[in-house]
Amino acid sequence: LKEIHEQPTAIRDTLVGRTSHSGRLMLDELRIDEDTLRDVNKVFVVACGTAFHAGLVAKYAIEHWTRLPVEIDIASEFRYRDPVLDANTLTLAVSQSGETIDTLEALRHACRQGSRVIAVTNTVGSSIAREADGILYTHAGPEIGVAATKTFATQMVALHLVALYLAQVRGSMFPEEIAEVVGRMHDLPEQVDLAIDLDEEVRELAAMYADARDVIFIGRHTGYPAALEGALKLKEISYIHAEGHPAGELKHGPIALLEEGLPVVAVATECHVYGKVLSNIQEVKARGARVIAVATEGDREIGKYADHVLFVPRTPELLAPVVVSVPLQLLAYHVGKARGCDVDQPRNLAKSVTVE
Ligand code: G6P
Repeated sequence: LKEIHEQPTAIRDTLVGRTSHSGRLMLDELRIDEDTLRDVNKVFVVACGTAFHAGLVAKYAIEHWTRLPVEIDIASEFRYRDPVLDANTLTLAVSQSGETIDTLEALRHACRQGSRVIAVTNTVGSSIAREADGILYTHAGPEIGVAATKTFATQMVALHLVALYLAQVRGSMFPEEIAEVVGRMHDLPEQVDLAIDLDEEVRELAAMYADARDVIFIGRHTGYPAALEGALKLKEISYIHAEGHPAGELKHGPIALLEEGLPVVAVATECHVYGKVLSNIQEVKARGARVIAVATEGDREIGKYADHVLFVPRTPELLAPVVVSVPLQLLAYHVGKARGCDVDQPRNLAKSVTVE
């Protein structure tokens, strides 16, 4: 809970010194020269667990802002599928600890194949930081809780900085467009603070659903990685079976799981596919499931379809998971507490996993 509350500061610290007043990115610490970044024709992201979800958000951002194709891999699968890497590929290795062996080995594989590698990590001097060509540190401060929270928020922020820097160097966005996004990123700490104010509301909800056997999380676009992360947090902390799915994929299988009273958490914040999320929510309701929606404040539609709505501040869709994940973290926390679980040291999990 302490680390959830530290997120506004962690985000502020990750942004500080990396943007100018005019909104220009200053990331000399990446240590990869601009010509090399201009020659990149493909980006790979490798990561595990929560860091993978941050990477998935980054995929949407990098592709949108730079028009570079992005492939993302669970790090433990990466080198075994023989990915096509060369000197014009850029690999982003994302890891809170910087010691996760699967991510480290994926990074080593990328290096051996000639790819440039940038590490996004929270741990100064870690193996992943030492072996990468360039580093962008997240400045989340030490994270003790096994389930990642503030490092997830700062990974997304750091990866967005890398994405915008690529856009700046490659000229795929106008400086004013970059400055606009940078400005909105500086709003995030305050918005996350407002999302933390949902604590009591989420605690009451958690009391209602603490006995659930299964919970399904759905979302589209960046709401999809947010849903995956919400499900991961809940299963890690409360041991409830939780699955995250792209909302549009429900009808291709997971819909068979829906039954009377099953809680479905829907990420339904404002975005270009909001209407489609609403129709997915209606499919869920029609099967008798209970819908808990995370929506944008001021949304007057959502209340007609969802059983409960948690309202978060309006955020551009590529930044939204930073804010949306807060009530989902709180949900996992309060459900875990209500079930008497050790939320700091969940069973079978380790903070840093150094075995394959
Ligand atoms: C472990 C932790 C997760 C974390 C993952 C990746 O499984 O329990 O919370 O997301 O490792 O860790 P990393 O340090 O590489 O981000």
